[in-house]
Amino acid sequence: MAKSRITYICSNCEYQTPKWVGKCPSCGMWNSLEEKMTATKTTSKTENRISSGSLPVKLSEVEYSNETRIISGIGELDRVLGGGILPGSLVLVGGEPGIGKSTLMLHLALETKSKKIIYISGEESTGQISQRAQRIGVENENCYLLAETNLENILSVISSQNPGIVIIDSIQTVFSEKIDSYPGTVTQIRECAAALLSVSKKLSIPIFLIGHINKDGNIAGPKILEHIVDTVLQFEGDKNHMYRVLRSIKNRFGSTSEIGIFEMMSHGLREVTNPSELLFSQKRDDYSGIAISATVEGIRPFLIEVQALVSSAVYGTPQRSATGFDIRRLNMLLAVLEKRAGFKLSQKDVFLNIAGGIKVVDPGIDLAVICSILSSDVDISIHKQTAFAGEVGLSGEIRPVSRIEQRISEAEKLGFTRIFVSEANKNGISGKYKKIQIEFVAKIEDVFRKIFAD
Ligand code: TYD
Ligand code: MG
Repeated sequence: MAKSRITYICSNCEYQTPKWVGKCPSCGMWNSLEEKMTATKTTSKTENRISSGSLPVKLSEVEYSNETRIISGIGELDRVLGGGILPGSLVLVGGEPGIGKSTLMLHLALETKSKKIIYISGEESTGQISQRAQRIGVENENCYLLAETNLENILSVISSQNPGIVIIDSIQTVFSEKIDSYPGTVTQIRECAAALLSVSKKLSIPIFLIGHINKDGNIAGPKILEHIVDTVLQFEGDKNHMYRVLRSIKNRFGSTSEIGIFEMMSHGLREVTNPSELLFSQKRDDYSGIAISATVEGIRPFLIEVQALVSSAVYGTPQRSATGFDIRRLNMLLAVLEKRAGFKLSQKDVFLNIAGGIKVVDPGIDLAVICSILSSDVDISIHKQTAFAGEVGLSGEIRPVSRIEQRISEAEKLGFTRIFVSEANKNGISGKYKKIQIEFVAKIEDVFRKIFAD
């Protein structure tokens, strides 16, 4: 017997309540509850136990097709996906408005020449997309455009056209006429994504969904989208800088530690295959407050510049700001400097910036961060050919980092003559380095004593 009742669902976090309230008790968002009629099915206890007819099969007897991945021709994207696009996978590409999601997906549509691709847009007209494609300047006879937002029409196009890859820009604009709520609401997004997932699996077609990110950095509306899709890629960067990082947040078919780096040019995106170029794109002078970190993202080592500015606070409460670095981690490092190394920073403003506008998550950057802060505080520059690789612990100890040999080799290759690493990394280094001197340090005091000694 089916009974229907009204439930209120939060469009931000999916919290459900039988009574309407102005503020969601779960996520604290105002006016986010939407009314929804749900049919509650009363099932008897025995009904629950009835088998649906499918039986378990032996693992060794499961048949699977070893499907080959589609190589998109964009090396940075293929690597982040785990070595190409897997047929039948649903990929969510998230990012702030204007960061370049549509441009990245259009590159994919233009450069994957081996498959028929349909780029479905609910945000731009086919004319606007074609104008953008002209700017990119790549031609592809296999690329088709469609301006459509109706889910039922999209599904019928996918099944009749039998494309090799489908791109949907964006999932927030798609709506199903069978669902009685506005496009972009939780119910619409969830149902549309679920329908697209099932068509993608059934026809073995990879589908890319573009999703907007809200102010908090979450994929707008439902978190649930992240659970439905196979892979979540995030396109991030600072809009005022040219560099963009494609990061994999979830990947059912590959590693999540890989990143792809791109540069936004006037004619589209350019792949940055050698990330250390971020460091050498600008001419460097001997300023105080600059330290170079030998960092690793995914499996690739690269060198990146950390800039700090420490000045006396003008107002009572000192300001702390960080671009490309976690502000909480910066506060922690400042507390360590104050407590363990005796630097009085509590009355000073501290600004930190990772050059190029990219975000670094590798903890090995800590040592360069504290050295740049110190260098700015005492106003003495660090020697240009010095690099750092080490994590800083709460008691001021320098902790070992992963892939130490790769970091040292990359620094040596780029002409660095000195690198500071944790003493605990000593055993992990077996190679001989002729051009670079390795300084093993155990505590932050050791580093400070050594960098300004000569
Ligand atoms: P877009 O892909 O539309 O962003 P999203 O889909 O994430 O909202 O990219 C928008 C920005 O990229 C826009 O400000 C213009 C810039 N851009 C370039 O600089 N060069 C180009 O060749 C293209 C196509 C866009
Ligand atoms: Mg767009």
